[in-house]
Amino acid sequence: MAHSCMDALIEHRSQFPALRNKLYLNYGGQGTMPQSSIDAIAKTYDHVQEVGPFHAAMFGWMVSEQDATRQALADELGGSAGSYALTQNVTEGCNIALWGIDWRDGDHLLTTDCEHVGVIHAVMQVQRRRNVELTFCALSGAKSKDEMVEIIDSAIAPRTRMVLISHVLWNTGQMLPVAEIATVCRRKNVLLLVDGAQSAGVAACDLGTEFGADFYSVTGHKWTCGPEGAGTFYVAPHALEFIQPTFVGWRGSSMDYKTGQPTGFTAGASRFEVGTGPIPILAGLRNSIAVHQAFGSPPQREELVLKNANRLIEKLSAIDRVECLLSKAESGLVSFRVEGANHRDVVGKLDALKIYVRTIPSPDCIRASVHYFTSDAEIDGLVTAIEEIMTSNRS
Ligand SMILES: Cc1ncc(COP(=O)(O)O)c(C=O)c1O
Repeated sequence: MAHSCMDALIEHRSQFPALRNKLYLNYGGQGTMPQSSIDAIAKTYDHVQEVGPFHAAMFGWMVSEQDATRQALADELGGSAGSYALTQNVTEGCNIALWGIDWRDGDHLLTTDCEHVGVIHAVMQVQRRRNVELTFCALSGAKSKDEMVEIIDSAIAPRTRMVLISHVLWNTGQMLPVAEIATVCRRKNVLLLVDGAQSAGVAACDLGTEFGADFYSVTGHKWTCGPEGAGTFYVAPHALEFIQPTFVGWRGSSMDYKTGQPTGFTAGASRFEVGTGPIPILAGLRNSIAVHQAFGSPPQREELVLKNANRLIEKLSAIDRVECLLSKAESGLVSFRVEGANHRDVVGKLDALKIYVRTIPSPDCIRASVHYFTSDAEIDGLVTAIEEIMTSNRS
């Protein structure tokens, strides 16, 4: 890296207090918030107390905070602001789509064997309560992107109403060919719900164009480095008619101010929002998005993420008895096995060194997350620590 680039990276990293006292490689779990996002939230809470908290002036302010946040999300992820519902997290967004369908007995829901436990739980509850057929197709065995598409294509049945996939698999870090899967789903008249937990903030994509997912669920607290509790659920304009709000409240409805009665749902995806929420954290989410945008465009940041992940894969693969699940990075997630070691023990030893990674239950492995602003020193620090752990295990 040229000296000026290095300086820019050092300066950029200095905005994140969590990076000062540890070697942080857990963005797939939760991102590190910039100080300016923490300050923006605190300042906004102060504003709420100063002006209100409950006062006529606050209602318009609240609406403008939400509108500004939906616009910031649209600027970053694509599409229009009206396509974004403000949620708390990815799981909530997936639940909105899953419960929004008018399931009939015997309808079919297709997902994969690589989904996150929260989403698995949600689809199983839909199966129990709506009496639908549920299939977990075996994506974990796929050898190529084409095979992934084929597996999903051939698992779609005549009664399939929805396919649920992750954009990036949380266990292996593989990126799914969403646009190709969306093409299959469109051809077969099946709705596509995408879990974007490990992709939003990493993978550059434009939800509003060729990408083709009907629904895309995002959280702000992972790769976007926003506050926990601020997520979003994208609904493609044409897909709004295919799901109904399950939880309903004042925030997602229009109202006759003379009678105080609801007159219907709001026009866009905000109809899925229900009631009072922590509006001040939205300032933190917007600020985190702006911090990333000030560093580079989504494609520029994705390129750096992949460069960093490939550096880690290369260095880990050079260690005897360490095997990376992927030989080439597809996202910021780098999963690896340490032959003959208990992965929890290894993560415990790394913890003691203030190097933060996590274990994954299936496949049994260790997962490190690298961001675009992860430094070479952090990558090398993890590699050296693994080498030392391997050496001490041998002696
Ligand atoms: C693929 C995937 N889906 C869903 C989740 C849950 O995310 P949230 O807590 O934002 O609902 C995670 C969290 O790690 C994940 O990796």
